[in-house]
Amino acid sequence: MASFISTLLFLFLMGGASPAGGQSSELTEPMCYDWGESSEAGVSVLEGESGWLSCPLFSHPSVYNYTSTQSAGHTLFWYRLLQGQDLEEPITSSSRLSKDRERLWLQPATSDDTGQYICMLRNKSSCSKIAMRLTVLRPDEVVRGVDCEPPVAVAATSEYIGLQGGKRLDCPDLQDAAKMADGEPTVTWYHVRRELSMCRQYPFWNNERQQNGASLRFYVMLDSYQGLYFCTVHYQRRGKMLNFTRSINVTAIYPPTVPKYPSILRPPKDLVSPVKPGSKVRLNCTGHFPIIRPDAVPEIWWTVDGKTLDKLADQRFSQTTRQVDYDRGDRFMENVLLIQDFQSEDLNKEFNCSVKNERGFETRRVQLREDVWLPSVELGCGLGVTLLLMLLLFVVYHVFWLELLLLYRSWFGTDERHTDDKEYDVYISYARNSEEEQFVLSTLRRVLENELGYSVCIFDRDSLPGGTITDETLSFVARSRRLLVVVSPGYASQGSQALLELKAGIDGMALGGHLRVILVQYKPVQRHSWVRELRRARVALALVRWQGDKSRELTSRFWKRLRVELPVRRVGREEEEEEEEGGNKEAVLMRLHSQNSTNSQTGLISNTVKDPQKVLNCAS
Ligand SMILES: *[C@@H]1O[C@H](CO)[C@@H](O)[C@H](O)[C@H]1NC(C)=O
Ligand SMILES: *[C@@H]1O[C@H](CO)[C@@H](O)[C@H](O)[C@H]1NC(C)=O
Ligand SMILES: *[C@@H]1O[C@H](CO)[C@@H](O)[C@H](O)[C@H]1NC(C)=O
Ligand SMILES: *[C@@H]1O[C@H](CO)[C@@H](O)[C@H](O)[C@H]1NC(C)=O
Ligand SMILES: *[C@@H]1O[C@H](CO)[C@@H](O)[C@H](O)[C@H]1NC(C)=O
Ligand SMILES: *[C@@H]1O[C@H](CO)[C@@H](O)[C@H](O)[C@H]1NC(C)=O
Repeated sequence: MASFISTLLFLFLMGGASPAGGQSSELTEPMCYDWGESSEAGVSVLEGESGWLSCPLFSHPSVYNYTSTQSAGHTLFWYRLLQGQDLEEPITSSSRLSKDRERLWLQPATSDDTGQYICMLRNKSSCSKIAMRLTVLRPDEVVRGVDCEPPVAVAATSEYIGLQGGKRLDCPDLQDAAKMADGEPTVTWYHVRRELSMCRQYPFWNNERQQNGASLRFYVMLDSYQGLYFCTVHYQRRGKMLNFTRSINVTAIYPPTVPKYPSILRPPKDLVSPVKPGSKVRLNCTGHFPIIRPDAVPEIWWTVDGKTLDKLADQRFSQTTRQVDYDRGDRFMENVLLIQDFQSEDLNKEFNCSVKNERGFETRRVQLREDVWLPSVELGCGLGVTLLLMLLLFVVYHVFWLELLLLYRSWFGTDERHTDDKEYDVYISYARNSEEEQFVLSTLRRVLENELGYSVCIFDRDSLPGGTITDETLSFVARSRRLLVVVSPGYASQGSQALLELKAGIDGMALGGHLRVILVQYKPVQRHSWVRELRRARVALALVRWQGDKSRELTSRFWKRLRVELPVRRVGREEEEEEEEGGNKEAVLMRLHSQNSTNSQTGLISNTVKDPQKVLNCAS
């Protein structure tokens, strides 16, 4: 449009010499400058109604002013371009088609009038022409919101009325009709509320809206009076009744009496927004713009360190504005400032959102702080460490529980020797004449006595010729703190010595005789080959398994488990002093806790019996 005006202006100032014309054409008709078709000037008229075409050359009066062109000797001609032909047919004035200044009136329009029209402004030395389109619509071609509303070919105009306020509505183009009319035009008003499918012709329900001459006067505006108002102008011209209809979109707005200062709704004054450096940051600002004039453009913008984004010229910053809400003319606008790749130093910048209208201005700084997401990391780390520790403790416990138990006992366990009057720590019961006998005599007994310092009793049948085995066995078992049963396939067969020992042990345990039975398994034994007493007892008893060569060392699991089951032998200072010669016990215990003593341990087990008396004691 700007170029259109400037070109027009240029041509006008150059003396109207058209580019196609030229000075030499004084004598002949000047070539006419063709502006083509004006899209803006296109007109729709309803069939049967009156309407007009307005020459677009005069749409910018500063360029072509009808009055001044007349005085410069210009004449305005109207042509019609016939459908499918290049021929420009001059329009001859009639009572139906008439020229009035820059207008061509159709009173009324017929469907045949549809087509392209040209207006040409010409004097002897200059000429300009422009085309426009006229569309004559049949009433059924008009798009209507509700069937009951009158068809209108022209877009609705807008009117805004303050709530509780008053206003006069005039029918658009009424004055133009008045000039054509022979008498006073009359106007009929309708109110249409499309959302209720309601059409009503004046008079309306009450007298808050009254027709005053041709205009409709609002005395008290209410929400329910909003909607489309249609007005049909009737007038008489040269004995013909003519009419046309226009529509007005009436909207209720807040009255001018309420304050009209713009305000910032978001962000709140004291809000501090967390932002993550290195990420996209969006800063939202919402402003409220009370209506002052319907066409006023609300202004909402961001500044960075007092500079608008235009002045800042940093690609990382951009803003978008949109209307988020509308309430009786008041507009709620949102402006989102997008910061790509937020930097830590941006935290020091001053981000202000500002709003402005005719009445006022407000600005607000958004407070930013670095989003401290470390706590979550620390929390995560802490949790991880805790879990790891727990896992570690769990593993440590499962791997070293025997050691821990032994350590605990060595500190807090009570020495049973001080609380009972028993003679032996361990009574070993086993199947005679078996593989186990060798194990019992050469390994078990030796280690228990010599290395671990227990007093051991092994009932030796051969040493008691003629004695009552039963009584003696029972008495020995009763005088022992533990009954160590070495289970084997043939163990405790009916009537054997071992069965007797086992029964004595189980009875002793059941009767609370401070006796505990421990099962030791030298070689894997099928459970069903056990005697019934053993099978029953197994449920409640500890079973310590010999694992071949692995169990030879004193540090092995076998000995540790066995020691857990056996009475506490704490090496205290008292004992140390008492048993100076037997000090090697402590050394053994110390070695038990050390890991790299393979050779010495094996050596220890093969030591000779130091104190054979104890065995003799038991057997005698
Ligand atoms: C024609 O109009 C132009 C201005 O548009 C004017 O300058 C010129 O003098 C006019 N020519 C005549 C012959 O009146
Ligand atoms: C307007 O005039 C036309 C032609 O005379 C007629 O058919 C039509 O009903 C009129 N419209 C109104 C709203 O009076
Ligand atoms: C057109 O020109 C006349 C006289 O030159 C002037 O009085 C009038 O105000 C102008 N009209 C417009 C709309 O500029
Ligand atoms: C009337 O105006 C209001 C507010 O400007 C708008 O929301 C509505 O769509 C308009 N109605 C019509 C029929 O143009
Ligand atoms: C800011 O607005 C955008 C888009 O409207 C939205 O996705 C985002 O959640 C908003 N941010 C805040 C902090 O409200
Ligand atoms: C930014 O807003 C604060 C109020 O929040 C104001 O004091 C300050 O002057 C504003 N800065 C600019 C550059 O407008």
